[in-house]
Amino acid sequence: MQRSLVLGCGAYLPERVVTNDELAQKVDTSDEWIVKRTGIRERHIAAEGELTSHLAVNAARDAMARAGVAADEIDLVIVATSTPDNTFPATAARVQAALEIRRGAAFDVQAVCAGFIYALSVADNMIRLGQAKTALVIGAEVFSRILDWDDRGTCILFGDGAGAMVLRGVENGTDNAARGVLSTHIYSDGRYYDMLYVDGGPGSTGTAGVLRMEGKEVFRHAVNRMAESIETALTHNNLTLDDIDWLVPHQANIRIIESIGRRLRLSLDNVVVTVDMQANTSAATIPLALTQAQNDGRLKSGNLVALSALGGGFSWGSALLRW
Ligand code: ACO
Repeated sequence: MQRSLVLGCGAYLPERVVTNDELAQKVDTSDEWIVKRTGIRERHIAAEGELTSHLAVNAARDAMARAGVAADEIDLVIVATSTPDNTFPATAARVQAALEIRRGAAFDVQAVCAGFIYALSVADNMIRLGQAKTALVIGAEVFSRILDWDDRGTCILFGDGAGAMVLRGVENGTDNAARGVLSTHIYSDGRYYDMLYVDGGPGSTGTAGVLRMEGKEVFRHAVNRMAESIETALTHNNLTLDDIDWLVPHQANIRIIESIGRRLRLSLDNVVVTVDMQANTSAATIPLALTQAQNDGRLKSGNLVALSALGGGFSWGSALLRW
């Protein structure tokens, strides 16, 4: 049996930064309201013609450089996205070609803001079973293209970006065996489909659509489900809340993150926060936050890192990593 070791993470954010003040020129809002209710100060927005695959390729290159892994070593590419370049083929196929990866499988996973946890779970399980050896797991989104820019209740919340992680299978029982992905847990409850959705295509509705959301319901479920899924992961690994060195939660709203921290009795000093400068980049928030904490030296070898996210569906889940 193999175990997935994290070799490195990478990130890419589009160049253009849009501040709250700039948004306030277009919709009836203010920097003060947005910061107080969400903690968001600014977000990156993709340039015209800049697609999810472009963001994903840049993040992947950064992760591969960090991991010291060449294209010909990779035999699995998974892109978590709800904003694929086209309805089909998978955006992962385009990423695979751009990186000149010529072996293995490339496919997308769609679980909205929980997408990276889902993709990590699939990659980890394939590695454990020996179906893949070196995996590139990417979260990439251009949510700016599916927003109703006249709806101040939603358009202020999101940004564009991509993050990536390189995983490699190592034999259990080797020196590295204590490190890597300890477990993943994923869940969905489709009864909440209408709480957070895009009211159109691409796909079987045949119409273009924009994001719709019941903010308060999403908030409540995000806190409860994300906290529960971390508790489940700890129990599964015979660990406790005191063992967590870093919580890297999905970045939707600082108040959601603070509520989870309180529930898990974790100080914000042990939580990686990027929502202030990047807003909610859906499937990309967790690998973007991991990259930031990796690059600034916060994540140290042996640290226990808890990841958790909730998104449309509802879909949610957690992962525990030994860094
Ligand atoms: N600027 C100014 N006023 C606003 C804005 C805005 N951008 N948006 C809403 N308002 C107004 C409303 O119209 C309302 O006014 P009223 O009292 O006169 O009717 C008032 O502010 C309060 O609105 P609420 O919707 O009740 O505000 P709430 O405190 O619930 O905050 C928010 C809204 C920030 C969206 C919150 O519900 C939230 O963060 N929910 C989580 C949703 C989320 O993060 N979704 C992301 C995708 S899912 C995920 O990633 C977990």
